[in-house]
Amino acid sequence: MDTITLPATATDATATAPSPDALGVSAARARSAVLEELIREEPGRFRVLTGDRPTGRLHLGHYFGTLHNRVRLQDLGVELFVLVADYQVLTDRDVADNLTGHVEDLVLDHLAIGVDPARSTIFTHSAVPALNQLMLPFLSLVSVAELGRNPTVKDEIAHSRQSAVSGLMFTYPVHQAADILFCKANLVPVGQDQLPHLEITRTIARRFNDRYGAGAALFPQPEALLSSAPLLLGTDGTKMSKSRRNAIALAADADETARLIKGAKTDSERHIAYDPVRRPEVSSLLLLAALCRQCTPEEIADEIGAAGAAALKKTVTEAVNEYLAPIRARRAAYAQDRAQVRAILREGNERARAVADTTLAEVRAAMNSRY
Ligand code: TRP
Repeated sequence: MDTITLPATATDATATAPSPDALGVSAARARSAVLEELIREEPGRFRVLTGDRPTGRLHLGHYFGTLHNRVRLQDLGVELFVLVADYQVLTDRDVADNLTGHVEDLVLDHLAIGVDPARSTIFTHSAVPALNQLMLPFLSLVSVAELGRNPTVKDEIAHSRQSAVSGLMFTYPVHQAADILFCKANLVPVGQDQLPHLEITRTIARRFNDRYGAGAALFPQPEALLSSAPLLLGTDGTKMSKSRRNAIALAADADETARLIKGAKTDSERHIAYDPVRRPEVSSLLLLAALCRQCTPEEIADEIGAAGAAALKKTVTEAVNEYLAPIRARRAAYAQDRAQVRAILREGNERARAVADTTLAEVRAAMNSRY
């Protein structure tokens, strides 16, 4: 049998946040622009797989960062698989708290923003055995040294609350390759931090094809569609994040939204202007209103001028509440009918199982392990 050469040595084990250049961001950005054109021309050529860990309700940072883009792709005619990555919760904690609740919340959030279960498939890791089984042959195609070099995993290990690094933490990028390749997705919308994982997925697809494909490519080499969304700050002026308690949840009601925005950090300059470097908090609020009203942050700033932070917050609150009203109404309607939400997930799981079973059968045939 032919052999695959795996790089033998790990590089340094320092755990600093990966620099954009180390992640290959500029190349991915250029390629994403080309991909956007191809999607517009021929959406039917693309299958997208995207996922989140079920660790809490999604917020406006997620929405404008990625969720909105999923619905956009679906509505352009791209086939969409949305993974609720329940096994991945266990990478950095011993127990997944309130897993059933978080899984249902994630499904609800996706239904609320317009993911259409008739066209798109929402599913969970743990319900799709054949997806998980792909991880075994995939693990054989990467070296320990390669896994050890993954800058995103290194960063997560450095910030983990656990005293020891689990095997799952170390190998979850390979699991993620199974997430993507089980349905032969060829497009993965991601933020910068996910680029190393996608590179591992591409490597695994290529090595599997080389080793077992007998000239045919069983797996596509999926491409990253890099999000161009600007970063939203939370109400305390740092990155909006579930764990920092500075986020405005999609599911928050109008009053809670008003209260959160009222408490948001600003600065003491009365005149409101968009200046992300010098005035990050005020600028992020302007950006949020602009995203909701589909205009530029400068336009919002001009509207407010010398009226100060209180007027800014009033404008932002109104913009957010108006924009989210239909999303929240849809979410509330689904939340009233949990049985339907569970039925949608069951149906998605069934669809994902059928796809995974087919892929696993092909993999077993290619590996001569059909008995
Ligand atoms: N790692 C992703 C995150 O933390 C979630 C995820 C799991 C994912 N499997 C995936 C993303 C496959 C893209 C493709 O957000």
